[in-house]
Amino acid sequence: MNLDAVREQFEQRAFDYDGLIPRLIPRYHEQHDLILQLIPFETNANIKVLDLGAGTGILSALILEAFPQAKVLAFDMAENMLKICQTNLSAFQERLTLQQGNFAEDDFGNGYDLVVSSLAIHHLDGARKKTLFKKLFQSMNSGGILLIRDIVTGGTPRLTEQYEQLWRQYMKDSGEDDKIWFQKHL
Ligand SMILES: C[S@@+](CC[C@H](N)C(=O)[O-])C[C@H]1O[C@@H](n2cnc3c(N)ncnc32)[C@H](O)[C@@H]1O
Repeated sequence: MNLDAVREQFEQRAFDYDGLIPRLIPRYHEQHDLILQLIPFETNANIKVLDLGAGTGILSALILEAFPQAKVLAFDMAENMLKICQTNLSAFQERLTLQQGNFAEDDFGNGYDLVVSSLAIHHLDGARKKTLFKKLFQSMNSGGILLIRDIVTGGTPRLTEQYEQLWRQYMKDSGEDDKIWFQKHL
């Protein structure tokens, strides 16, 4: 799926995204808790944070809450996702900046202590991922941390198939059509 089609998907799904995503991704919220535990900074640290593909800002909100001095740039290509993000995170507006752009092509600034990205980078092909990782490395301060939660293949084709079956079953058990979602997002 090309990036324009990906953006269009999220423009359309923005308004029911927060309710939908935990039905598609097993342990969606628990994975965020794990990301928070992996952040090595003191809670009062004055950190500059980038959330790549921030969507409606669910992870950004948790970071802003856990780190009361942190400033977050929520970067996303879908305008409607950012609109919901702005509403959801209105309590943090002084420490939150929203920017619409494509992280494969557009500038997202530099000087970051922490970069997080959740369920967004898998939309890029291998070559674009490599370019992004170089750009990210240059955008981060020395000692900066990059935490990515995303879809990966299993260690062997058989494991990948088993993971896929388990994942599809989770979607079905949540009342969602796994065929549609696999086609759309993988
Ligand atoms: C599945 S949502 C994840 C949202 C949020 N990070 C979360 O975990 O709930 C993927 C988000 O990444 C954004 N996205 C995907 N590819 C992108 C790109 N190349 N540049 C900017 N945003 C992108 C989409 O617009 C969408 O909002």
